[in-house]
Amino acid sequence: MTRRTVRIAMNGVTGRMGYRQHLVRSILSLQQQGGLDLGDGTTLWPEPVLVGRREHALRAMAEQHGIEHWSTDLDAVLADPSVEIYFDAQVTSAREDAVRQAIAAGKHIYCEKPTATSLDGALELARLAVAAGVKHGVVQDKLFLPGLQKLKRLVDGGFFGRILSVRGEFGYWVFEGDWQSAQRPSWNYRAQDGGGIVADMFPHWEYVMHETFGRVRTVQALATTHVPQRWDERGKPYDATADDAAYGIFELDGGAVAQINSSWTVRVNRDELVEFQVDGTYGSAVAGLRNCRVQHRSATPKPVWNPDLPATEAFRDQWQEVPDNTEFDNGFKAQWELFLRHVALDEPWRWDLTAGARGVQLAELGLRSSAEGRRLDVPELSL
Ligand SMILES: NC(=O)c1ccc[n+]([C@@H]2O[C@H](COP(=O)([O-])OP(=O)(O)OC[C@H]3O[C@@H](n4cnc5c(N)ncnc54)[C@H](O)[C@@H]3O)[C@@H](O)[C@H]2O)c1
Repeated sequence: MTRRTVRIAMNGVTGRMGYRQHLVRSILSLQQQGGLDLGDGTTLWPEPVLVGRREHALRAMAEQHGIEHWSTDLDAVLADPSVEIYFDAQVTSAREDAVRQAIAAGKHIYCEKPTATSLDGALELARLAVAAGVKHGVVQDKLFLPGLQKLKRLVDGGFFGRILSVRGEFGYWVFEGDWQSAQRPSWNYRAQDGGGIVADMFPHWEYVMHETFGRVRTVQALATTHVPQRWDERGKPYDATADDAAYGIFELDGGAVAQINSSWTVRVNRDELVEFQVDGTYGSAVAGLRNCRVQHRSATPKPVWNPDLPATEAFRDQWQEVPDNTEFDNGFKAQWELFLRHVALDEPWRWDLTAGARGVQLAELGLRSSAEGRRLDVPELSL
């Protein structure tokens, strides 16, 4: 086995996503498994170079995990020809400039969503990456979740017949930060810092709908700020200027209608933090992050509306669990592996910066739809 090292500049690794999902659960986990077997006698060894603004935080993290290379000087890291990939999980508002800089330095790009704070910015990044001939990718982790993989399997297997509708319910209560600390960063609640649930979640919903059911053709959304004041990481009150809940309706290619609620101001009465119910002529399914349950038309009960009687059936018990039938790895890691194979072997890859721009487009149109109070077409993007 020959070992090929691929050095990855990882920016924003002190953040929630950058640290837990990308550094620990993906790159370090790949190291723990001995690298990525490319199947041609080569093992790819991903070597992180931590990049960030806070020297003490980076040093502590590097020491904790035995990581040799870290820096607070992005320019210097990008000027290093041994670094092949630039990864970005910084706050959204910082991404565009850094990715642009990395493309100019000739690095392959992999980054979190949303790729930019405006569609123009997102498209520009895609154009620059194509022109530079670098490989590029955007995190679309939900596609790799067991629940959604099982849902896709049902779609591909023809389980649903004609798909009529999708009901998505995402959310949980994010504490305001006064009497209990908030479990999300405060920039998420400030529009001026790139926050807002539409900017955060519509990019996810775009690729989930697109890849599972069909391209999003129209959007109608109502975005609102239910909790206008919150308390930040230092316990200081601030105005929540960004939307914390969005109620969206989407028409999809193929004719299905999707309705997705996204909220940081809802208490969970579901089995999982996100669930999608899909109804088709032949069957229905409810998929979460991990699990997926189905009901075939042959096993569909025939309730009769009668408010004078208590419910006669335990409706939730009438669904059948879809088996795993395979081993599911962490979704972020699974996508990292595909991206690394794309870089090393030129294997096909479709979750690129253009796909990332589609997510930004849906968020932008969702906010505009809400502001203008009307349904908007979602035009197909071209570079
Ligand atoms: N794929 C997913 O499921 C998912 C989930 C959550 C967040 N995200 C995305 O990941 C990115 C990071 O989100 P997070 O929740 O990890 O955020 P976070 O606040 O926990 O981390 C932000 C990171 O950016 C760095 N940073 C750089 N410039 C900064 C600035 N000016 N102000 C503050 N921090 C700055 C911080 O040091 C930190 O490392 C966002 O773009 C977000 O949309 C993706």
